[in-house]
Amino acid sequence: MVDDMIATGSQFADPHVADQHSEGYATNAQYYELIFPDEVIESVGAGLTQLLSSTGTVVEVGAGTGMFTRLILDRLSAGAEVFAVEPSPVMRAALATRLAHHPRADGLTIIDADGLTATLPPDIGGVDTLVLLHVLSHFSPEARARLWSIWIPQLVDGGLIVADPLWPEQPMPVPAMVQPGRILGRRRYESCCEATVHDDPAGRPMVQWRMTYRTYEADRLVGEDSVCFPAHVVSRATIDSELVDYGVVPIADVAGVWAWRVSR
Ligand SMILES: C[S@@+](CC[C@H](N)C(=O)[O-])C[C@H]1O[C@@H](n2cnc3c(N)ncnc32)[C@H](O)[C@@H]1O
Repeated sequence: MVDDMIATGSQFADPHVADQHSEGYATNAQYYELIFPDEVIESVGAGLTQLLSSTGTVVEVGAGTGMFTRLILDRLSAGAEVFAVEPSPVMRAALATRLAHHPRADGLTIIDADGLTATLPPDIGGVDTLVLLHVLSHFSPEARARLWSIWIPQLVDGGLIVADPLWPEQPMPVPAMVQPGRILGRRRYESCCEATVHDDPAGRPMVQWRMTYRTYEADRLVGEDSVCFPAHVVSRATIDSELVDYGVVPIADVAGVWAWRVSR
């Protein structure tokens, strides 16, 4: 996977294109909480909590700063565990800082690996839920196939897969969009994202997001960082057809998230 991601990133001449494990999130992490849209936290959080009113073993691939890991821990059944897989050291630092004092921290294991190399302790009977929030675009079609082949056999019958609703579902350029962020003290944060379409090494179109993070004091710009994330675009219909081969079927009408259930 690491090779796959580096290869994906290196195809672009732009030096700001980052290896997604480290460089991209090394810049992004300091702004993550400051620019993440409230409406996405609310909608994804609502979908997640609707599905996980109480939950057994959860694997969360790409747990990031733990924004949604916290919601999962809040709902963890007695004796159950969450395995939060996060390859980026700076995102893991935020994850650990957010959750180290959570009342159910005893049930949280942070795994410093990516979604294709992480392994669970051998005494785990089966995984009840696989959570993939805002991470699937980091997986090429081949890497996604490996992701399914690694994790779906570990899911129990009736187990769940939960992802955010991906957008766009087809490769398309996206003009610059400014999203207001939070205000902390005298500083106001905002992000601007725009996407261009490029071909991957196999000649398939993929999107490259350029994220610009701006910091203002009153109306004065006092900081600006920019980073690019190559993103593999995939539609709900494609994921549905990939999963059906494993006996995993879509769950209709869960607001805020895409969800599937193992039905062997
Ligand atoms: C956009 S963040 C999403 C974080 C969190 N899931 C959320 O919704 O707030 C994507 C995260 O996926 C991680 N990531 C990137 N490639 C990954 C991979 N191959 N396996 C697991 N995690 C990965 C990044 O380090 C980053 O923390």
